[in-house]
Amino acid sequence: MGYAFDVIGSKDKAVAIIDSKIENEKQVAQDIMKQHKNVKSVLKKKSGRTGVYRIYSLKLVAGSRDTEVIHKEHGCFLKLDPKKVYFSPRESTERKRIAEKVKPKDSVLVMFSGIGPYAITIAKKHPKANIVAIEINLDAVIYAEKNIKLNKIKNIKNYCWDVREARYLGKFDRIIMPLPETAIEFLDSAFLSSKKGTVIHLYGISNEPKKFSDLRKKVKEMAKTFNIKYKIISDQKVLPYAPKMWKVRLDIKIL
Ligand SMILES: C[S@@+](CC[C@H](N)C(=O)[O-])C[C@H]1O[C@@H](n2cnc3c(N)ncnc32)[C@H](O)[C@@H]1O
Repeated sequence: MGYAFDVIGSKDKAVAIIDSKIENEKQVAQDIMKQHKNVKSVLKKKSGRTGVYRIYSLKLVAGSRDTEVIHKEHGCFLKLDPKKVYFSPRESTERKRIAEKVKPKDSVLVMFSGIGPYAITIAKKHPKANIVAIEINLDAVIYAEKNIKLNKIKNIKNYCWDVREARYLGKFDRIIMPLPETAIEFLDSAFLSSKKGTVIHLYGISNEPKKFSDLRKKVKEMAKTFNIKYKIISDQKVLPYAPKMWKVRLDIKIL
């Protein structure tokens, strides 16, 4: 098959998502369903991710209208419907990297938490950590709540809020900001939830594959405006985003 597609779901029921540029969509959908017996629906992107919720507009090309699936990664079960919420199976390695950085008793704020993949991956690995997840899309928050139960997690509080309201929840050891397109605009909110020693995992888009100086510059400006002292302790190229652009992460320690 000369085209890429994402499969989300389990060995019993999955959906495949194909690119908007694919022309012979019916034939492609049939080929996918023939080769991947677990794929019960094929959806085609009608646009890139749009709006505050960062979801694709998706068209059903073949198979069932019921596109709710349970995806498994790192031993976690994640229920979702890609028509209603953001989810990317390609970010699973990054979630594992972050969970490995968390210390067992950390207080962790997951901003832009979606259906809960970061919070749940961390909670499974660190049952003594205190985790707060904040997400604005009610459908995603409802799935996150189901996923917390599905994975028998006891240490996540899940809020349907704008992350700007996080300031009322006190200070955290670690803050995760997985919204690469605009997380930088919310860095002031992360500062308000920080104390000396807090590590902020800030995601962004960079056109510099090594130093991410464009994003570093924006962090410097924000920190100056809010009189915050910080050090960037590590960075990570996460995934390709567009030609010559990458999803990247800066790990910012508050001094
Ligand atoms: C890139 S998605 C990441 C979701 C999830 N962390 C994941 O990895 O699957 C970003 C999420 O941020 C949410 N979001 C956007 N603006 C927000 C805001 N101001 N407050 C809370 N959530 C927001 C969107 O609805 C979306 O679910």
